Amino acid sequence: MPSQTESVPSSPMIEVENLNFFYGQTQSLHGVNLKIPAKQVTAFIGPSGCGKSTLLRCFNRMNDLIETARIASGHIKIQGVDIHDPEVDVISLRRQVGMVFQKSNPFPKSIYQNISYGLELQGVKNKQRLDEAVETSLRGAALWDEVKDRLHTSGLGLSGGQQQRLCIARAIAIQPAVILMDEPCAALDPIATGKVEELIQQLKHDFTIVIVTHSMQQAGRCSDQTAFFYLGKLIEMDVTQKVFTNPAHKQTEDYITGRFG
Ligand SMILES: Nc1ncnc2c1ncn2[C@@H]1O[C@H](COP(=O)(O)OP(=O)(O)O)[C@@H](O)[C@H]1O
Ligand SMILES: [Mg+2]
Repeated sequence: MPSQTESVPSSPMIEVENLNFFYGQTQSLHGVNLKIPAKQVTAFIGPSGCGKSTLLRCFNRMNDLIETARIASGHIKIQGVDIHDPEVDVISLRRQVGMVFQKSNPFPKSIYQNISYGLELQGVKNKQRLDEAVETSLRGAALWDEVKDRLHTSGLGLSGGQQQRLCIARAIAIQPAVILMDEPCAALDPIATGKVEELIQQLKHDFTIVIVTHSMQQAGRCSDQTAFFYLGKLIEMDVTQKVFTNPAHKQTEDYITGRFG
């Protein structure tokens, strides 16, 4: 049984109950139970292949796009709503639960359009509103000062770190409740990584953030809660400092002390 986190408030943003997940015949998540608190940063750590990305992709039903993917049993609730309820519209779920990937993926469009696009899809046409949303989102992603004079140039002309912050700006423009980040700094240098980590600290005032990271240093620096996974099982989840200084399970200790992984 994974230890439950005492500091998690009573109404979590995301609740996973006894989740069993398969790709074809292979089970990749085993009886996962966890609660992700609102407006905090939760880090998923664990060795490669332990199911971190799979679980993350369950939260906005990105796994629906993988033919062999199947939830055999269990429930995922976001803001109290079962995301597999037939009443739930996947498009609006993904609007509520945004995602940032390992490799930044700006659209081959201008910086401005990268951000306005999602809003236009939602029917926002008013130029002033779009201008404001673009500025607010770029400020929110700590990118405004660097790009305000080149908004109508291609997003692909930015540096890797700027592109990743542009993707974060794009994600926040539509005001999701949750932002999922799958190794968002894996392709960035230490300075760009530092900027994204700083940004994550700002964003948690407005959003619930779940970040998959290979880097235990990163989990230690920027998360409030840490969940350690091993072979598709949640071994433990607790306040980050507790997991790193006084883990409840030997497997966690072995991992964080670098004995494997
Ligand atoms: N699209 C897929 N099809 C089949 N198996 C997959 C797929 N994606 C991941 N897996 C398998 O599921 C397990 C968990 O993978 P993943 O969630 O990517 O782990 P992590 O993100 O922790 O490295 C691994 O054994 C991996 O090989
Ligand atoms: Mg992964």
